[in-house]
Amino acid sequence: MLPFLISTAIAIAASSTVTVTLPADRSDGNVLGRVRVFILRGACRPGASPPITSCGDDQDTAQVFGEDTPAGGLAPGASVKITADSLGYPYISLLNLEDGEYCMQADLNLYEVFVRGDGVNVTLPTTCVSPGGGDGAYGLPPGTLYSKPKTVTLHVDAEVALSLTELADPHPSSPGCSGKGADTEWIKTVRVTSKLLSAFWGKPIVLEACVLLPFGFNEHPNAKYPLAIAHGHYSATFNPGGRFDPTPPSANLTGYAFVDQQYANWLYGNWTSAEGPFKGARALMVTINHPVPFFDDSYAVDSVNVGPYGSAIMTELLPAIEGQYRGLGAGWARGVMGGSTGGWESFAVQVLYPDDFNYAAVACPDPIGFTSYTTVNIYEAKNAYFYDAPFKRTARPGQRDHYSGTAVIPGTSIPTYGSPYGQTTATVEEMNRREIVLGPRSRSCGQWDIWEAVFGPRGEDGYPKRLWCKDPRDTTCEYGAIDPQVAQYWKEHFDMTDKLKREWAHGLGAKLSGKLHVFVGASDTFFLTNAVMDLQDWATNATLDPPFGGEIVIGAHDGRGYEHCFNGFLPDGTIAPNAITRELYVTKFVPRMAERWAASAPKGADMEWHSY
Ligand SMILES: *[C@@H]1O[C@H](CO)[C@@H](O)[C@H](O)[C@H]1NC(C)=O
Ligand SMILES: *[C@@H]1O[C@H](CO)[C@@H](O)[C@H](O)[C@H]1NC(C)=O
Ligand SMILES: *[C@@H]1O[C@H](CO)[C@@H](O)[C@H](O)[C@H]1NC(C)=O
Ligand SMILES: *[C@@H]1O[C@H](CO)[C@@H](O)[C@H](O)[C@H]1NC(C)=O
Repeated sequence: MLPFLISTAIAIAASSTVTVTLPADRSDGNVLGRVRVFILRGACRPGASPPITSCGDDQDTAQVFGEDTPAGGLAPGASVKITADSLGYPYISLLNLEDGEYCMQADLNLYEVFVRGDGVNVTLPTTCVSPGGGDGAYGLPPGTLYSKPKTVTLHVDAEVALSLTELADPHPSSPGCSGKGADTEWIKTVRVTSKLLSAFWGKPIVLEACVLLPFGFNEHPNAKYPLAIAHGHYSATFNPGGRFDPTPPSANLTGYAFVDQQYANWLYGNWTSAEGPFKGARALMVTINHPVPFFDDSYAVDSVNVGPYGSAIMTELLPAIEGQYRGLGAGWARGVMGGSTGGWESFAVQVLYPDDFNYAAVACPDPIGFTSYTTVNIYEAKNAYFYDAPFKRTARPGQRDHYSGTAVIPGTSIPTYGSPYGQTTATVEEMNRREIVLGPRSRSCGQWDIWEAVFGPRGEDGYPKRLWCKDPRDTTCEYGAIDPQVAQYWKEHFDMTDKLKREWAHGLGAKLSGKLHVFVGASDTFFLTNAVMDLQDWATNATLDPPFGGEIVIGAHDGRGYEHCFNGFLPDGTIAPNAITRELYVTKFVPRMAERWAASAPKGADMEWHSY
């Protein structure tokens, strides 16, 4: 049936099962969620990472199988069985595992039932983040149950037993916005219980913002300030793209950790200085935490599956921040910036709220148009996993090379470039199948699942409707075949390039001309280059009225493309590795925003922020 997925040698471990048991002495009742079994080759090695820590890593090659708990949850003492019928990745089935020795570990990712305000009940992950963790820490959310790693031998009829004896801290302590627990002189926390989001999710939803106050905030008690949002992944600690830290790097820091601390301290030095890049560019610098049950971040727009995050941020959170910390509270005095997820958000909120922001610095954005949803044109391709061809079956690449944002010359703290050879590290099919193994119905906390949740319609079952046929065992559709009706919904709602094309000449252009500044590496790891090229094809058309303005920079150095996540060159235009420029979002973009804010300020506006 699926010969391209089944290895030729059917192994004799065929009839093996892996039984994962919730200990009988677990006192707090049934547990709802998904059981995943992670498998590495060979015996478990003391000190080596246990298999489950690979959960958040897209490029990981660990074998994984998954099964949901029963609908009422797994009772203490009861088990979930992984059998030859359980879906797996990379091998599709236990049938493919050769005889031999393996290291196995199980986890149980917690789900809960959300009785939503839109009238549907959905069972989704309780959370995809840990308040103790940062950027993309999806591996072990609070309360996850897991087994110890166990060395097992697979052979005919092997019966492997794993027990979920371990528990990830259900209430990890958070370092908070300042990284020091409580707020500091510079970094403040603003929390708003959102009426809109609480009504949608059927439980209280808190939006959290970390706010870096401008230099001179107390010395200028009547000044009002512009506001810049750095959009991006969940991070308990304020991290707008380069941290802010009064502590200089200690000499014992090695590799990229030294670089990161050095730039964090330089940002502190520059921000709190009367001279330097922020002179005349005094602003509130804000990051936002808005994790959702599908991902560590909501994508900051109104979506039928994820909720009205765009409206909640615009009408509930921003007024609270600007009210509390003397914001100007006007569209001409606001900007957005971010990379990757945050790049998409910056582009989208600028386009969807064109009057409410006056500058978008958009780095390596997730697909801003779906003629290039990474390597897939969702309107023209028939199949997302294989290029259309009469006889060939060439898999579409989903990932090439590696993220290069923390590359240093080995053994030093000197940032350097990656090697964009264009090597395929995962196909679109592999990345997507891994997600349905980790959590079917968009419950993996993974990248493709959140895109479908944000961009797509709601399915009849209440879960995000699939853009293409995702499950290789589904006999009602061709594996990977795109649903044109769903693609049309994506186009009408979230294809930002298409929206610009449709509406530019009819008023939207007048509001956006000169505001969109887009940067992407020519060899972006996730093929995010492609959607920016499509935008560029349209935006550079000389007949555009008004002109696009702004910038579209497809980054290269020495004739080589940059990988993820290129955000432009140094503030003075010098070419530098991503491992440096990723530290400089604030240093680079706030002064550029300030120039535009000052140039477009209405007559009589309070300009004290620009005076020192
Ligand atoms: C959702 O769950 C609530 C509470 O259990 C129940 O009252 C309601 O009827 C359910 N709605 C649907 C559509 O199943
Ligand atoms: C590095 O040095 C600092 C003091 O400067 C100390 O607090 C810290 O524990 C040291 N870290 C390591 C990894 O040795
Ligand atoms: C400002 O940042 C730059 C690097 O971006 C650094 O070279 C400089 O020393 C910093 N200035 C202060 C006062 O920290
Ligand atoms: C530029 O835009 C005009 C008007 O929409 C269109 O007719 C023309 O084909 C475009 N040119 C290019 C090179 O895309």
